[in-house]
Parts: sequence; structure tokens; C-alpha cells
Amino acid sequence: MEVSNIPKHIGFIMDGNGRWAKKRGMPRNFGHKQGAAVFKKTINWCREFGVRAATFYAFSTENWKRPEDEVKGIMNLLRQYIKDIRAMQKENVRFIFIGDLSRLDEDIRVELADIMETSRKNTEFIVGVALNYGGRAEIANAAKILAKKCVSGEISPDDISEELIEKNLYTSEFPPLDLVVRPSGEQRLSNFLIWQVAYAEFVFMDVLWPDFKKKDLEYAIKEFASRSRRFGGL
Ligand code: IPE
Ligand code: IPE
Ligand code: MG
Repeated sequence: MEVSNIPKHIGFIMDGNGRWAKKRGMPRNFGHKQGAAVFKKTINWCREFGVRAATFYAFSTENWKRPEDEVKGIMNLLRQYIKDIRAMQKENVRFIFIGDLSRLDEDIRVELADIMETSRKNTEFIVGVALNYGGRAEIANAAKILAKKCVSGEISPDDISEELIEKNLYTSEFPPLDLVVRPSGEQRLSNFLIWQVAYAEFVFMDVLWPDFKKKDLEYAIKEFASRSRRFGGL
């Protein structure tokens, strides 16, 4: 691709799985399965294009409202994907799971913690997977950590700065978020990385996530490259 400013960190809101399945007269979980396959492919396309990190919105703090069957199906898919993730880990890819993982089943939690630990030193690419993730919960969590440090005397309230809050977000080890891609036709964030998007670019696309192809990623990156980011300056 003839583009000089490739985004370093892209956030993907993997949306439209249910509608994709419905169009085919299939259960929603069939769409999630296809969506998970696209997740894996997208990681590799990002690596080919020279992106350094990608965060995928897989399950929100609000998605627990869905029928129990669907939630169970998504968790079982995650169990299956842990094997694929382990294979990628051998290719120098680091995995960071963001969100309140404490609400996930114990077996999943143990695996995720182990993957995060064993891939910690991998440097080629960072994959973020947002699970039981909510942007507001993330900020509230950072506030809680800093409040406790104030009470213990480790910091003073006057030490609290944007940088210090950022250091206590789940994404503290990621490069700054440059671009958010949301397929499925919806034009909203649905509580995804709401602090981090302050100066990110947005590309909303009509394609449903299970149909997302390499050419769609290429389109989003070219669109990003064509934007003039001023960060408030001239
Ligand atoms: C996104 O697809 C996946 C999750 C939220 C887990 P959806 O399941 O939201 O699909 P639509 O939006 O209903 O089509
Ligand atoms: C956002 O999609 C969450 C994920 C993609 C995991 P939703 O389908 O849950 O968002 P809304 O309900 O359309 O805002
Ligand atoms: Mg949706």
C-alpha cells in the first residue's frame, strides 16, 4: 500500500455478527463464530500493513444483557480461540486483555492471565482484546486506584494529571490510539475506549464484521492517511 502514515494503533468495534447470521437464517452465534475468524485474519492484515497494535472490542460491560445462550456461546468461542492465540504468541505477538476480567469464568481467567504473562516480552505487534470492557468502567477503575493511593499517602490529589490517569487505564502499554474502525453501519462508540479516542480518527463502514476483508482495512487506512490531524494546532 502506497501510504506513508500508517496508524500505529487501530481500535476495531467488531459489530454486525448477529445481523450477518440473521440474513442467512442462522442463529446469532453462527455470526459470532464467523466474526471470530475475521478477528484472527485482521490481526495478520494489520501486521502486513505495518500497524503496531490493534484493540478489538469483543464483549462489552453491557453485553451481559443478552440472552444467556448467546453469552455462553461467545464465552465458548473465546475458549476455542485461546488455542489460536497461543499459536500467535509464538510469532512475537503480545496479547493484552482489557476490561474487568474478574467477571469471566475461572478457567478463562487463568488462561488469559497466563497468555498475558508469557507474551509480555513479545515486541512485533500488540493485540488488545476488550472483554467485559466499558470505557466508563475503565475510567472509574483508574479513579479508584488513584483515590486509594491518595488515602495511603503515596500521592497527593494535586499529583493527579492526565498522564497519571492514562497510566492507570488498561491501555497504558499501548501506543496512542490513532484510528477507530466500526463496521455494521452504526455510528457510535458504544462505550469503547472513550478516553483514548480524544484525538483519534473514525472510519464507520457499512460492511458487517463477518464480511470484513483486507480491502476494507486498506480502505480504512487510506482514509486515515488522507485526514489532516491538527491536534488543536494549525
Ligand atoms: C458484535 O455483533 C459482537 C458482540 C457484541 C459480542 P453483534 O452481536 O452486536 O451483532 P448485531 O449488531 O446484533 O448485528
Ligand atoms: C459494541 O457492539 C460491543 C462490541 C462490538 C463487543 P454492540 O452491538 O453491543 O453495541 P450497540 O448495542 O449497538 O451500541
Ligand atoms: Mg451490535
